[in-house]
Amino acid sequence: MRWFDWINVLCVLGLIGVGIVILNANSLGVSSEGKVDLKILHAWLGYAFSLNLLWRILWGFIGNPYSRWSAVLPGGRGYGAALREWIAGAKAGTPPAYKGHNPAARLMLAVLFFLLGAQMITGLVLAGTDLYFPPFGHEFAEWATGSGEDHAGLVGLVPGAKEMLDPEGYAAMRRFREPFIEIHEIGFWAMLVAIVLHIGAVVVSDIKEGNGLISAMFSGRKVFTEEPRE
Ligand code: HEM
Repeated sequence: MRWFDWINVLCVLGLIGVGIVILNANSLGVSSEGKVDLKILHAWLGYAFSLNLLWRILWGFIGNPYSRWSAVLPGGRGYGAALREWIAGAKAGTPPAYKGHNPAARLMLAVLFFLLGAQMITGLVLAGTDLYFPPFGHEFAEWATGSGEDHAGLVGLVPGAKEMLDPEGYAAMRRFREPFIEIHEIGFWAMLVAIVLHIGAVVVSDIKEGNGLISAMFSGRKVFTEEPRE
């Protein structure tokens, strides 16, 4: 799954970069139109990110044995014992080698996928509430303009087009949005922490296990000095 990893890395870095500018837009002196443009750019990156993530989620059900959820997420038969064995080995400086992900890596991957999923869902909602973009934008536009099924009221609705809004509907829509932006922001900070830990773990296990995990991310090949586990 190197394709997923690299597309994901590029999208996440782009989303974090643009996200940081959005967060600091006022102190950077960005105009309201500039802010909308930044959100549009962020949302397009978000769509690429979401498609890639959805593909990876599907791949977890149909892909090769090392990519399956049963091999990537913690749990399943023998997982607890394998984790204890791995920790004991790591403490002794000789963690057991794995072709796929080791049991500790699977714990971290569960956290990463959870964060990625949360960012995707909250981000897609925000694209609807802030930009009236798909997949939920149509519903939020109906809510904000009070137009219900009367779609005439939606034509030409763009972020900031205040005269088209129904004040009550708009206010209710913005209240609904609050927990989503809250979680999206917390997810952003959690992701920064997770990325540092993730990179740290990959570098440390490459050094300790010496099986070229980092070069395998480019080549797809790991090198083993002992017979690896599944
Ligand atoms: C790794 C994934 C992502 C990260 C780290 C991220 C990060 C951020 C950050 C830091 C902000 C600024 C928050 C604020 O203004 O308070 C933001 C806003 C936003 N994000 Fe994301 N984002 C991610 C994924 C997505 C996705 C998948 C979408 C949807 C397609 C999306 C849509 C938005 C929108 C529409 C806003 C503007 C909300 C606003 O500030 O008013 N994001 N994101």
